Amino acid sequence: MIALGCDHGGYELKQEIRKHLDEQKIPYKDFGCDSMESTDYPIYAKRVAKAILSGECEKGILICGTGIGISITANKFKGIRAALCSDCFSAEATRLHNDANILAMGGRVVGPGLALKIVDTFLNTPFSGDERHIRRIEQIESE
Ligand code: RB5
Repeated sequence: MIALGCDHGGYELKQEIRKHLDEQKIPYKDFGCDSMESTDYPIYAKRVAKAILSGECEKGILICGTGIGISITANKFKGIRAALCSDCFSAEATRLHNDANILAMGGRVVGPGLALKIVDTFLNTPFSGDERHIRRIEQIESE
């Protein structure tokens, strides 16, 4: 199950992503927002982060205008690794190396064509499981 969340700056792109996931029959849960009315991105970052940490969802996709505020918020949660990506190379690398569990994007940064390819790359790339990457992820979590 994929958790989706956005603010007004990411609403249109989230709608494109919903359609794309529907076409591929990939299940998702949409944690809002539900319109282009101005709202606050931390609300949705927190909902998605909590859904992942509780085990309700396996991965998340968060979108705000830049992807910055929403990823900063999500990354405050221990165990969340939200990666802000604007290209497929980064989306692949963050799965392979960081085992990122949230993809963040800027709805005002990437167009829908590229964004959907980034989504596919992120969702279809497994964590490498390499010892050095496991060690580094453990270091992220330790004080
Ligand atoms: C909203 O205008 C904008 O600040 C927000 O979507 C995001 O870009 C914040 O980081």
